[in-house]
This record gives sequence, C-alpha cells and structure tokens, in this order.
Amino acid sequence: MAISTDNDAAVYLAAAAKEVDAALERWLPCAEAVPGRIHESMRWSALAPGKRLRPALLLAAGESCGAERATLLPAAVALELIHAFSLVHDDLPAMDDDDLRRGLPTNHVRFGEATAILAGDALACLAFELIARETPQQDLVAQLIVILGRATGTQGMIGGQVLDLLAEGTPADLVVVREIHLRKTAALIRASCEMAAVCARADAATSFALAQYGERIGLAFQITDDLLDLTATAEQVGKRTRKDLERGKLTWPGVVGIEAARNDATRLVQEAVQIIAPHDPQGVLRSLAQYITGRNH
Ligand code: IPE
Ligand code: IPE
Ligand code: MG
Ligand code: MG
Ligand code: MG
Repeated sequence: MAISTDNDAAVYLAAAAKEVDAALERWLPCAEAVPGRIHESMRWSALAPGKRLRPALLLAAGESCGAERATLLPAAVALELIHAFSLVHDDLPAMDDDDLRRGLPTNHVRFGEATAILAGDALACLAFELIARETPQQDLVAQLIVILGRATGTQGMIGGQVLDLLAEGTPADLVVVREIHLRKTAALIRASCEMAAVCARADAATSFALAQYGERIGLAFQITDDLLDLTATAEQVGKRTRKDLERGKLTWPGVVGIEAARNDATRLVQEAVQIIAPHDPQGVLRSLAQYITGRNH
C-alpha cells in the first residue's frame, strides 16, 4: 500500500491502523480456541480502538529508510501487543485501578483480575513469538528481540512502571519524572524507531537519528498524556481523566506547570523533527511527531 506518500498524520495513522488491525486479527488466537476466556480477553484489549501510534511509527520509520512492509509488519504488531499488555496491567487495581480504557470497560472489569493478569502475560509472550515466527528475514530476529525485550523490561517500560508506582505521593522532582517517562513510555516509542532501523538494515547514522527522534517524541508523548489527564474529558480520551492528581502521580505538568509542560513537549518535538529531517524524505515522521503534541485524545 503506497501510504508513505501521504504526509498527513491522521490519514497515515488511519491507514496504518487498518493494516495493523487486520494483522492483529489474523495473529491473535481466535476466541474459540481453548481456553476461550483468555483469548477473548486478549482480543478485547488488543483489538480495542487505540491510536496504533507505535506500529504506525514503526511502519513510517521503516519505510522512510527503505524497509519492506512485509518485514516491518510482524515487528509493528509485536510492539502493539506489548503496548496492549502494558495497558491491561497499568489499569489493574494494584496499579492505577482504572475502569475505562479505549472507551470500554478495562480488562479486569470485564474478565476478572486473574484473567487480566494472565492475558497481559500472554500478549507479551505472543509479541516475541510473532517476531520469531513471522519475520521473513530471519537473520534480523535476534536483533529485533533484543531491542523489544530491553525496551519492555526493567530498563524500559516495566522499570518505568515500577518507578511510577514508587514515586506516588513523593515531592515534585523533574529529574525523577523524566526518568519515569523515558522508561515507562519513551522506551517503547524509541524501540519502534530502532526496530524500524534494523528492518531497513539502516546505517549507524540513520539508526542513531531514529533512536534520538524516538526518544524525544516518546517523552513528548507522555508529557502530552499527563496534560490530557488534566485538561481532557473521558469521552475525548476513552479513559478516566483527572486521576493523576488524585493518585499522587508524579507528572510533568505537576512538576513544572501546564504552560511549561506544553512548551517542553513542543520543544522536544521540534528537536525530533530537526534530527530526523535528513532521513524523512516524505515528511511523514515530521507530521507524526507534530501530531503527538497537537492531539486531543
Ligand atoms: C496510553 O497510550 C499509555 C501511555 C503510554 C501514555 P496511548 O495514548 O497510545 O493509548 P492507545 O493505544 O491510543 O489506547
Ligand atoms: C502508562 O502511563 C504508561 C504505560 C506503560 C502503560 P499512564 O498510567 O499515564 O497511562 P494512562 O494514562 O493510564 O493511559
Ligand atoms: Mg500508570
Ligand atoms: Mg494509567
Ligand atoms: Mg496517563
């Protein structure tokens, strides 16, 4: 599909979401397979209407440096599965205790806590299985798995979630909140760009630029998420808002204020756009970066 020529982020995201959803539908276990309950639960969260930003970025970044779509798709779907797993566990009563996600009841509200925990575990396992099984260029598999494993684990998303929980109720500190956001959110967004570079067999300079771009927009993404928690409605974002204050979360606007947080996110996106410009012939990566701070959901 020649969608890489369209540099409008919304159009690009919609087309990527369609492609990713079709692959998710194909690669997730069907609800009828035994044990049906966990498959239903996995499908509930993974197929729910999210923005599919991480897989879209992977596809865009990969195409911008010449990777084949068939090589990118398993990695893109794997990343979305890890993200879905992170959301299921993030919403659990022991974590953020949320009852609404992507406009639907959260996994544990719909299926019970035990199934939600196991569905999250199974989504993570499936992600790695898919990369190993479905990547056409098998010599890339080990590198892709190392990047995704590191970005998911204690150096990345899971480590960030631990820091996020430990920081609840602690005094405002920008160094701490930066570390939390880099790990819990930016690590996977950066990984989408790094995995794209691997799929494209990109040179060192391109890989480095993509990683730096990914880290900056990842940070800007979580700052914007913190801002939306303060300023958006549940109808807009499909999840409860004004919860971070209530739970004593350390957030970027909580530390520096709303205006400064907006400026910081904008500056990070500007830096990302500058870094990626030489590797972004169609401007798709620029428009995806700008979408991140401009979004209202
Ligand atoms: C929400 O991510 C969790 C964060 C890391 C902030 P998204 O805002 O990408 O959620 P979906 O995938 O669109 O539901
Ligand atoms: C979550 O951050 C980051 C994840 C790793 C899921 P948040 O807790 O702020 O995400 P939301 O606001 O619940 O989507
Ligand atoms: Mg959280
Ligand atoms: Mg949360
Ligand atoms: Mg949030």
